[in-house]
Amino acid sequence: MAQQNLDNIDTTEHPYINKGLEGIVAFSTTKSFIDGQKGDLIYAGYNIDTLAENATFEEVCFLLWNDRLPNSTELEELNNSLKSQRSLPQPVLDYIKSTNKKAEPMAVLRTAVSMIADFQDAPSGDAEKDNRDDAISMTAQMPTIIAAFARARSGKEIVAPLDNGSTAFNFLYMLNGEKPGEEAEKTMDLCLILHAEHGMNASTFTCRAICSTESDMFSAVTGAIGALKGPLHGGANTAVMNMLLEMDANAETADPVQFTKDRLASKKKIMGFGHRVYKTFDPRARLLRGMSKSLSEETGQTELYEWSESILKTMKDEKNIDPNVDFFSATVYYSLGIEPDLFTCIFAMSRVSGWTAHYLEQDANNRLVRPRALYIGEKNLDWTPVEER
Ligand code: CMC
Repeated sequence: MAQQNLDNIDTTEHPYINKGLEGIVAFSTTKSFIDGQKGDLIYAGYNIDTLAENATFEEVCFLLWNDRLPNSTELEELNNSLKSQRSLPQPVLDYIKSTNKKAEPMAVLRTAVSMIADFQDAPSGDAEKDNRDDAISMTAQMPTIIAAFARARSGKEIVAPLDNGSTAFNFLYMLNGEKPGEEAEKTMDLCLILHAEHGMNASTFTCRAICSTESDMFSAVTGAIGALKGPLHGGANTAVMNMLLEMDANAETADPVQFTKDRLASKKKIMGFGHRVYKTFDPRARLLRGMSKSLSEETGQTELYEWSESILKTMKDEKNIDPNVDFFSATVYYSLGIEPDLFTCIFAMSRVSGWTAHYLEQDANNRLVRPRALYIGEKNLDWTPVEER
């Protein structure tokens, strides 16, 4: 039988086929809206530029979980809950200290988040309240897991979280062992805001699909971390940095324009470019580009930023493809002194707010996610006994 696949199928015969579910609407949501033609992004009614200018990450978490901004009492309550839940259960810390130091940080994060589930309080009988509590505890604990593994793998003492300060402040403090300055905290906070939510991307879809089986929130977030890890999704930011660092290793002869052209000529992708939904400049990339520029000017290390701009121009000229969120976030994190293989974890510690918001939304109005696949294999074959095969 001639093998068919979804690239060459007759869609008049199979009208519901859509490889990669491109353009298919399977859920409704109040969490975010993307206009891929105009380059607009809205979280629960608020334009991303408005949030970037005014909000804190914690306010964005509340917004995503409740579809409205918190008043000052509610914000204080949320901040207190986050602060009180940052510490990890001892067995999770023991795992982080004892696991393979060469393990991928996203793999460690995935395992540790899954482990945390075993140390939650018994269900209270109010499932929605328990889910909301789980959303807070995962958002509080993921930065602690990432910072603890980053330090443990390089033989440094693990730094316990403080019981004050923002998520961004604490993360940088636990990672570096010293309190960050105001600018570094603000930059980190802005990065967390920009990565918090983005419609029905692969990891959010995974989270909602798991929720739709009535499985628990920890399982859904663990699955979402697995989906985010891939280089076509969140893993692209690490790939971008590795590409720039490869150039930096031969800085004298580095030619980002030729590098980009050569890669395109050999049909390879440039990470941090292109998007399934945006057909113009990703608004998050626009904001991160500005941050990358000013950070590079402040540190006086402008080379990586300038190479990024050359790659961007070449991609536009050669393929008319714009950068996505992962392109400039790479140099921003690098300027904050963060190791490249931790970048995707930072994406996750922000996106957990969006994943859990989608979990709550799915759970409130659930229908099992169960698409179909087109069977393209053989049928009704005769059985051959094992010794005759
Ligand atoms: N570099 C070079 N060419 C590209 C790129 C790229 N980064 N992205 C798309 N193209 C080309 C692709 O080769 C194809 O060209 P042609 O029509 O000549 O064969 C055309 O653009 C369409 O590409 P596609 O892969 O069919 O587009 P898609 O909508 O399926 O892919 C994407 C979206 C994000 C998977 C893809 O753009 C890509 O692989 N980008 C690199 C990885 C990346 O940066 N991922 C992060 C995505 S944003 C953050 C997130 O959600 O996590």
